Amino acid sequence: MASHHKHQQRGAAATAPGALPVINIGRLGDKDPAARALVVQDIARACRDRGCFQVVNHGVSKSAMDDALEAASEFFDMPAERKAAFACADIRSPVRYDTSSKDGISKARSFLKHYANPLDHWVDSWPTQPATYRKKMGTYAVEIQRLSIQLMGAIVQGLGLCPMHLQEKLGAGLQFMALNNYPQGSSRAGDTVGLAPHSDIGFITILLQSSPGLEVTHHDDGGVWTPVPAIPGALHVHLGDHLEVLSNGRLRSLLHRAILNTDEERISIASIHGAAIDEKVGCAEELVDERHPRMYRESSFHDFLDFLPTNVKAYRRFVETLKIDSA
Ligand code: OGA
Ligand code: NI
Repeated sequence: MASHHKHQQRGAAATAPGALPVINIGRLGDKDPAARALVVQDIARACRDRGCFQVVNHGVSKSAMDDALEAASEFFDMPAERKAAFACADIRSPVRYDTSSKDGISKARSFLKHYANPLDHWVDSWPTQPATYRKKMGTYAVEIQRLSIQLMGAIVQGLGLCPMHLQEKLGAGLQFMALNNYPQGSSRAGDTVGLAPHSDIGFITILLQSSPGLEVTHHDDGGVWTPVPAIPGALHVHLGDHLEVLSNGRLRSLLHRAILNTDEERISIASIHGAAIDEKVGCAEELVDERHPRMYRESSFHDFLDFLPTNVKAYRRFVETLKIDSA
């Protein structure tokens, strides 16, 4: 615990925008629309002002969260040759393990990435070792997918859209999981970046971290990095490029990075939720009018994968490449 505290203090000194919002979403499923509306309002404000928030009382069981981190940790503890069996040069591969920085943003991490929704379609491609991996990660994936749909209902409602907007598409949508393993950093080197600044594709990312290390900066934070504290039981949520597009620029995707922990190695599990792999995402028609001209071209997750290999020299958020010249 002491080590976590140290990290939070380190960040606090350099933090201009104030503490990141922690939202109790227990009443999101409430029959009373007024109780739900209060939570929707908190989420809308956090999305607009910070691009991220943590959720508590989210309904994902503690055991599912603990088991997922344990399964990830056991995977990364396996001998290198075992893990290398999942290495694949094709970024479209359903499962991919990597240790290097070919993607331009991985500085010191190894990762396993795979799809998860619908689970019965993807689970056969997942690792069979450690023996409990599929069961533990599968249980977590399903609970997180359910939470993502609930959160998206609130986020689109906060944008003034019908809460049912997109719900069907999300149910059949993308869930792309990245399990990240960062080595312990040297305390002499100062802050060392494990994963360079980037935004995620998809509408939202839900992230579980074993210890602090995630840092965020929103578009109007003036480049100040705010550490995301590892609150026991909480899940971190941030906005992706496709939510910026959907909202026609009312919301912005979140720039984030991971710093190496000087006390211990670190594991995080990021779950990206979006529209189906080939489904084009554009600005919601309800948010386009004379005063708010369409700001972005439509694109799919596959378009994003095509863009990735071209984005290794000078990093750009994918969403920047989608902007329609209004001049
Ligand atoms: C990611 C990511 C942050 C972290 O996997 O896209 O941003 O804390 N991870 O590992
Ligand atoms: Ni990310």
